[in-house]
Amino acid sequence: MAKQNQFSSSRRVASENPYALIGNSLPMKRVYQLISKVLHSEANILLTGETGTGKELVAKAIHEYGHRRTQPFVVQNCASLPDGLLESELFGYRKGAFTGADRNHQGMFDAANHGILFLDEIGDLPLTLQAKLLRVLQEQEVRPLGDTEYHKINVRVIAATHRNLEDMVARGEFRSDLYYRLAHFPIELPPLRERGDDILKLAYAFIDEIVERDRLGLISIHDELAVALQHYEFPGNVRELKSMIERAILLADDTDFLTSQHFPNLPPVVMSESHPIENGLSNGLLKELVDRYERQVLIDYLKKHRGNQKHTATALGVARRTLIYKLTKHKINSRDWRA
Ligand SMILES: Nc1ncnc2c1ncn2[C@@H]1O[C@H](COP(=O)(O)OP(=O)(O)OP(=O)(O)O)[C@@H](O)[C@H]1O
Ligand SMILES: [Mg+2]
Repeated sequence: MAKQNQFSSSRRVASENPYALIGNSLPMKRVYQLISKVLHSEANILLTGETGTGKELVAKAIHEYGHRRTQPFVVQNCASLPDGLLESELFGYRKGAFTGADRNHQGMFDAANHGILFLDEIGDLPLTLQAKLLRVLQEQEVRPLGDTEYHKINVRVIAATHRNLEDMVARGEFRSDLYYRLAHFPIELPPLRERGDDILKLAYAFIDEIVERDRLGLISIHDELAVALQHYEFPGNVRELKSMIERAILLADDTDFLTSQHFPNLPPVVMSESHPIENGLSNGLLKELVDRYERQVLIDYLKKHRGNQKHTATALGVARRTLIYKLTKHKINSRDWRA
């Protein structure tokens, strides 16, 4: 049956989730356990997982909920800059260090002092810089380009990559000593396709975000779409789901329900015995009787509450979104019962 009841309010769901991350599937609970263990330690953390699984979000959560929360959180993407520039961004430089260095420049390690430096896409760090980074981590000191002396810093590093660093170590593309130093505490984020019901929780959370931002009416997910989402691979993980929802709401104009029609890139689900939603009560006398009874109850309650959806939903003990879904299904217009 419909999932709306269970996932009707992302605000409720969000408050159930630690670290402001959405999802309470078993694989995510494991992630939360790991986060709780590292929050107040000084261990360097390595976040791995496919693209879009939430590595940056987890890094931010570790900062926000950990004991360095009042100190800086600085992000440096190791894939976005050419080697030379990345080096001066990370370690800084002194005036005159090279042509064009017309003033002192603070590096990311200094900017993150006493806080956290998030080194994203660490798998793209060139070997020469890997050696320099290793030294900084071992000694907790940096020497800006053009400086003659090292100075102490106190920075906790969280690194992230969607690449398999162990394979890179085996191929000689990543230093094993740096790998072990970064991976004091590895946390692997599960792909979205392995998170079960979290897919719908996230989908509703993103819907609610957009509804609130754009001041739209309630929007629900049709059962048939819920099944399709739960069977999709999501190569782009949570990021992909988020942009799918954005696009679907644009395509849906002012419908209350998102269906697969609004998700042009979602492959159709092949009907089979393993999809009880399509099979279950879809045919037969029992289904017909239950439907007829449900329709009658809805009409009775609407009459009693003079077409007021909120009061009817409360009286029936369901979320308003569920009521709307059922009314649409039975082609009942609550306005017909307004006083
Ligand atoms: N558990 C979650 N709850 C809510 N939003 C999430 C969750 N996980 C990811 N997101 C959202 O999904 C998007 C992608 O997350 P993020 O940028 O952290 O992924 P990533 O693993 O760093 O991806 P990449 O490897 O491509 O850099 C962001 O908009 C983020 O807010
Ligand atoms: Mg990222």
